[in-house]
Amino acid sequence: MPPSTALIDRYGRKIDYIRLSITDRCDFRCSYCMAEDMQFLPRDEILTLEECARLVRVFVGLGVVKVRITGGEPLVRKDAITLFRDIGRLPGLRELVLTTNGSQLARWAHALRAAGVSRINISLDSLNADTFRRITRVGDLDKVLQGIAAARAAGFDALRLNTVLMRGINDHEAEDLVQFAIDHDMDIAFIEEMPLGEVDHARDTTCVSNDETMARLQQKYALVSSTESTGGPARYWRIPATRTKIGFISPHSHNFCESCNRVRITCKGELYLCLGQEDKVDLMPLLRGHPDEDAPLRDAILHAMQIKPQGHDFDLRRTQPAVVRFMSMTGG
Ligand code: 5AD
Ligand code: SF4
Repeated sequence: MPPSTALIDRYGRKIDYIRLSITDRCDFRCSYCMAEDMQFLPRDEILTLEECARLVRVFVGLGVVKVRITGGEPLVRKDAITLFRDIGRLPGLRELVLTTNGSQLARWAHALRAAGVSRINISLDSLNADTFRRITRVGDLDKVLQGIAAARAAGFDALRLNTVLMRGINDHEAEDLVQFAIDHDMDIAFIEEMPLGEVDHARDTTCVSNDETMARLQQKYALVSSTESTGGPARYWRIPATRTKIGFISPHSHNFCESCNRVRITCKGELYLCLGQEDKVDLMPLLRGHPDEDAPLRDAILHAMQIKPQGHDFDLRRTQPAVVRFMSMTGG
């Protein structure tokens, strides 16, 4: 039998989407994402941009057609644009997409577009500068708004806001954020707060379920269920007479694991098979130990599919986080 070259796991799910975190650093400190005082990894413990490019090339050789670059904040990594250019050139890749907090977009939007990035998800949790600062601890709302405008000006027509609502902090802004998305012809996805990493608030008091958000938005908009998918876990609803879709990413109330098509790679080169589980394979030793030979890396990746868990088991009532690593390690 010829060796398998496609990534299929034990449950028959085809993996054709990777999310690669290229840095654990960020210029924001969102309270649901990071502790106030974060220790970041030393330089030599994270993949070089060349190693990132090689890894993506190997995955694309194994049938991956979509790559999302995440962080931390990917655009704070020096020379990140060279990686986008390298990946954008890979034959076989259909979609190169980015998740960013938008703080550096004004500077990079054009170059990202030219490198072949097709879609950008921009985190935006508030339209009020003070609330924005409270959530991000250090972020400047204006910069992000300028970044969004720059992305539009650079020709990105598929932009999506990512919003995490926290009870008593920004949950009253759901309608305003949707209106912003409508006014700017963007989509918006509401992501339920997930127990990733230990933060300084009790997540079960802040987490707003998407059922609640949906009920709230239905008071104002006649949402129409849509079968559209962007290959991710969001379930979409259309707002009639607008170009905006509202997505709901609901790990708590709607488990999306059965259709999972992705794996995640941390900036340390750890291949995590599930956002909410600890199963992983360390790829850095293979990258560094076999600089001129991809076969060991390829075999390890193929093998890893056999340990991809069936699903996550997030439970906000637990006192410990479901997984100890922050989203900024694994990449949203
Ligand atoms: N729960 C839910 N969403 C999170 N994000 C970061 N950490 C968490 C968490 N613990 C969000 C960011 C970004 C997206 C990729 O993930 O706001 O928009
Ligand atoms: Fe940075 Fe995004 Fe985490 Fe906020 S949510 S601290 S922007 S990585």
